[in-house]
Amino acid sequence: MRSAAPGVVSLPGRTADHEPVAVGRGPDGRRVGVLAGRRQNGGVDLHRDALRAIASREPLRAWGPGVEDLPWANPEFSERMLHEHLTQDHELASRRLDTIDRQVELLRGWLGIEAGQSLLDMTCGPGLVARAFARHGITVTGVDIAPAAIRHAIEITGGLPCIFIEADVREVPLPVAEFDAAIYLYGQPGVPVPEVQREILTRIRRSLRPGAPIVLEVRDAASVDRRPQLRWWTGSRGLFGRDDKFVLTERIWDEDARATVERDIVLDIETGALNTFGVTERAYEMDEVESLLASAGFPTVEFHRGWDGLDFDDSVSWMVAIGR
Ligand SMILES: C[S@@+](CC[C@H](N)C(=O)[O-])C[C@H]1O[C@@H](n2cnc3c(N)ncnc32)[C@H](O)[C@@H]1O
Repeated sequence: MRSAAPGVVSLPGRTADHEPVAVGRGPDGRRVGVLAGRRQNGGVDLHRDALRAIASREPLRAWGPGVEDLPWANPEFSERMLHEHLTQDHELASRRLDTIDRQVELLRGWLGIEAGQSLLDMTCGPGLVARAFARHGITVTGVDIAPAAIRHAIEITGGLPCIFIEADVREVPLPVAEFDAAIYLYGQPGVPVPEVQREILTRIRRSLRPGAPIVLEVRDAASVDRRPQLRWWTGSRGLFGRDDKFVLTERIWDEDARATVERDIVLDIETGALNTFGVTERAYEMDEVESLLASAGFPTVEFHRGWDGLDFDDSVSWMVAIGR
């Protein structure tokens, strides 16, 4: 893999010590190389081992080892992720507060849910969406696996009719025929492997009153960029920790699985420690959503592609489906 394009690295399989093994250009056009150094650490050259591991990494494939999902439940990761949820600089983890308010306005209308009724929010994150519903008198039960997100959700909803459960949506016990509606937003329904995903939806169906709706928000296959991507950056900010690091991000479209697969390889510049983070996300055509929802007990589906034109960062890439 070699390219002179800005930000694209070349990763030859082997190299002599002190020769750049990963070379690219930063956003400012500066040429940057990572050196295979001679830092001996307990007799082991961690940098060299790390770079060899990068060079011989597994090709990406949907739900392959290390790319099933992010480590949401990890306490330190969840603290760092909370920061990403709450920032108003981007919408990569949660939407901005004003976007959420406008989304909840639409959702209340689409669902016909009113004060005094109950809502199940699967993968509720830090409770921003739950709070927006609860402010309209709707009782919300939120489920999320991330400890920092649940802590924050509880903090911001004092006095509002909300309950939060720190649990995995794949196994959380849910009451039967209890809720007037359910939401499962922001692409998360496309992350579990398909069999598990159907199981989760079936369990949500059982927790709803007869005929009650579910909202799924999944990635619209029509809008997915299917070109393979390889990018890198260096720095000490962000989700992967505060140490100086070199981050290589690669992404593919797996046509068989109809999913994007993304992996971040994080090399600690000081110690040579290597960590990887990965996630697979299924994208959908409308008929695929219809058969998925039908198989989980929701025979009727109504679509709001691109949130019916609501204006926010990447609104066109989302498909909102309401199953009943
Ligand atoms: C992209 S965020 C969306 C959060 C929230 N729905 C929102 O729109 O702001 C995805 C959330 O899913 C949660 N999550 C991922 N896998 C989960 C699982 N298996 N069980 C429960 N929560 C999970 C994460 O902890 C994270 O809070």
